[in-house]
Amino acid sequence: MTGAQFKRVTPRSGAPVTLSFDGVPLTATAGDSILATLLSHGRFVRHHEFGGGPRAGFCLMGACQDCWVWSGHGGRLRACTTPVADGMALFAEPQPLLPSHE
Ligand code: FES
Repeated sequence: MTGAQFKRVTPRSGAPVTLSFDGVPLTATAGDSILATLLSHGRFVRHHEFGGGPRAGFCLMGACQDCWVWSGHGGRLRACTTPVADGMALFAEPQPLLPSHE
């Protein structure tokens, strides 16, 4: 973990949200994006495929695909365009898919 890359400059109202990233609990406000939450907590989103350096998104508007994170259910989410949800379990690395309930 490093220092925060995002800092809220204007207070915003909304329900508090608790989620986790790689098992570390994080807090956010309803309506925050996953990426804003991660960067305000000094987290990165994943490691680069070539060289392993930390990645923290690039375009911040859903165009570059540099901010993928993985849900606890195995799905991939674009962190900059996905709002946080209470109880989300997110990961920097792909997670195994859960068996279907058919
Ligand atoms: S930062 Fe570019 S798609 Fe999310």
